[in-house]
Amino acid sequence: MKEPLFYTGEPVEPCDLMFRDDFIDIVWESLRQRHVLIAAPRRTGKTSVMNHLMEYPRHGFLVVSQNVQDFDHPAGLFQSLLENLYEQHNSVAERLIRGGWSLLKESRQWLGRNVESVGAGSFKIALRKTDPDWNANWKQHADETLRQLRSIGQPMLLIIDELPDLILNMRRHNEADLRDFLGWFRKIRQDPPPSRDTIRWLIGGSTNIASTLDELGEVDLINDIAEEPLPVLSEEQVREFVQRMLSCRGVDFSQTVPRRISVRLGRPIPFFMQLVTQEVFRSWRREPRKITTRDVDEIFDGMVTSQASQGKLQHYHSRISRYYLEPRQSAAYLLLSKLSLASDQGISRRALQQLFLQHCSERGETSDSASMRSQFNHLMRDLENDFYVSECSKDQFDFSSGVMKSWWRKYYG
Ligand SMILES: Nc1ncnc2c1ncn2[C@@H]1O[C@H](COP(=O)(O)OP(=O)(O)OP(=O)(O)O)[C@@H](O)[C@H]1O
Ligand SMILES: [Mg+2]
Repeated sequence: MKEPLFYTGEPVEPCDLMFRDDFIDIVWESLRQRHVLIAAPRRTGKTSVMNHLMEYPRHGFLVVSQNVQDFDHPAGLFQSLLENLYEQHNSVAERLIRGGWSLLKESRQWLGRNVESVGAGSFKIALRKTDPDWNANWKQHADETLRQLRSIGQPMLLIIDELPDLILNMRRHNEADLRDFLGWFRKIRQDPPPSRDTIRWLIGGSTNIASTLDELGEVDLINDIAEEPLPVLSEEQVREFVQRMLSCRGVDFSQTVPRRISVRLGRPIPFFMQLVTQEVFRSWRREPRKITTRDVDEIFDGMVTSQASQGKLQHYHSRISRYYLEPRQSAAYLLLSKLSLASDQGISRRALQQLFLQHCSERGETSDSASMRSQFNHLMRDLENDFYVSECSKDQFDFSSGVMKSWWRKYYG
């Protein structure tokens, strides 16, 4: 068997994807009856699973997938879905054109006339040229797209990766448009109901989607979707990963190394697991020897300051200012900085709540104490869902990831 590659940031290729077989079975099973949400924190492997679904479809599904992280309007989403359909399932698109779908037909004609200037892979440009008022007309195009997709007589899976980002981007521009989109999206998911529909939606994103909608008072807009949480890798899987990646490269290591890596990782973020194991391999390659737990410790300590992991860790810091609203945003920075300085015992929930309340009062927040407590609970839930913290013993909280804790202490403690 070919040795699996290391992946440090990009999605894992389907042929190298480990530990997700059961989850992939569950998702396909769930999709037979429902629309599905894959909720999981950053960098845990959502897109890798989605790419697998796309590469190895089941139950006769045609799959089209789009990441909408940088979009701020539903028009962009549908233009991209249509472009993907045209490029990845061209015979289906051609059939729909022959059947009289004028938007696709005119876009293809435009592309034919302009291919020299815009290049062949510019179907999205062609779509926009065909209707200069796309943004205003997005709903009409979207409804027509769904009608056409239902006519092909084959189940169709539409994967929307990072939907919470589209929602946040829209919220920044125009909340009324966002509510309109969410209302429309819910309606088309339920009418017809999935049992009588050939279209399925698979939505991916960080768990903040529920919080985001909660803040808009619109959480019921997604409660028809089956949530399939991406399983957290077990300690055993981490050890298996280390064992396999090192053994197949001929690395000599003492039997305690996989366990040591698992302990130092804390709650394993798959991305850190890859990064550390790759570092162990590189260190051995530079200086072939029997790798020991002491080497593992040195590598962990070195990673916290290494240039390579800097940007990746910084991401966890910056994303709070993007996704958390005040006063939770500044409170999150405060609590994480305190936690980074705490011992392995962490800090009690009660003490964290105290810090939170004090912080809010210094900021001049005037809400009543019940709503402050609910803000605190909300913050703790987000920090847990996003993998920053976890309960290390009863009512005591600590950083989930050992790497992140050391890094936070160094730069923000
Ligand atoms: N099954 C797996 N086994 C080992 N490592 C994995 C696995 N899945 C993901 N990873 C690691 O996580 C990284 C990110 O994977 P992926 O892009 O699929 O996650 P994501 O949740 O979509 O991330 P993001 O939140 O950035 O979109 C990969 O580069 C790899 O290091
Ligand atoms: Mg992703």
